[in-house]
Amino acid sequence: MNKITVVGAGNVGATTAQRLAEKELAREIVLVDIVDGVPQGKGLDQWESAPIEGFDSRITGSNGYGAAEGSELFIVTAGIARKPGMSREDLLRTNVDIVKSVGLEIKKCSPKAIVIVVSNPLDTMCYVMKETLGASRERVLGMAGVLDTARYRSFLAQALDVSVEDIQAMVLGGHGDTMVPLVSYTTVAGIPITQLMDADEIEKHVQRARSGGAEIVAFLKTGSAYYAPSAAAVQMAEAIVKDKKRILPCSAWLEGEYGMKGVFLGVPCKLGARGLEQIIEIDMNPAERAALTKSADAVRETQDMVRL
Ligand code: NAI
Ligand code: 2OP
Repeated sequence: MNKITVVGAGNVGATTAQRLAEKELAREIVLVDIVDGVPQGKGLDQWESAPIEGFDSRITGSNGYGAAEGSELFIVTAGIARKPGMSREDLLRTNVDIVKSVGLEIKKCSPKAIVIVVSNPLDTMCYVMKETLGASRERVLGMAGVLDTARYRSFLAQALDVSVEDIQAMVLGGHGDTMVPLVSYTTVAGIPITQLMDADEIEKHVQRARSGGAEIVAFLKTGSAYYAPSAAAVQMAEAIVKDKKRILPCSAWLEGEYGMKGVFLGVPCKLGARGLEQIIEIDMNPAERAALTKSADAVRETQDMVRL
């Protein structure tokens, strides 16, 4: 890819830019932030790591969108992050305004770009971005499921003392307390998790995954997670840049899938060069299906509070 722009040069954005560069996912990586000097300083610092890490992706920082013009992909991390005691919904008002302003800039400078949204509350911010861009659903995706699934996989791998690579799982639904880790699709090298762990222990890890974001906030106190979130955003970017057709849980705009429409929700998505290439509908047991519907209701409640 020629150019990827990361908007927001804070914890998630800056780490995302560095990871994109280290994987050489674009010839040029642009970091945009409103704070004077921060994207420039971080971008330069990252570029100075290139000779050591051995990458040739150019990273530049900017307060405007001139350098971002013609980007094929944007990763939007602009916004304020959760502080202890704050829910993701508390972020709503401020981040709606921020994401809308970013969307207007993207529309002007790169009207055909694919956009991966990271800002919270995630599913609703995807809605704000899609509405602002007037884009088809193929071009606007939210990062949450890859992160929530990675947390769940990491807890299971640790508990079972097996490689994280051998845990396959999928966490669907909204990026919030109602997210839906699918136990019926959780396997260890193809072996159903229910053969290796009792139900109570599985439930413990499910609950920990649900509150995985808050667990990190409680430790950090002044911000939220960014190493795993940036890794998740870059995995989605890589699937798009390399047209890998990966099946990843992402927030996508539903148009009848799972019996729902007009809402962003975490569902299994095929990601390739066109962005969202397919939403895959999987069978679920009645409890999982009910949990997904409940999660969509929670997202819709927040989405309905947004006036654009
Ligand atoms: P941060 O506070 O470290 O960085 C946010 C950056 O956005 C700041 O540098 C700020 O100056 C910048 N910014 C604010 N308004 C802007 C604008 N209009 N244009 C460009 N830049 C602007 O926060 P962090 O930790 O990087 O988190 C960023 C967002 O991502 C938060 O909303 C957070 O809740 C969300 N998040 C979402 C995750 C997910 O799973 N979807 C995971 C982790 C974070
Ligand atoms: C997380 O899950 C804060 O949404 C962010 O870490």
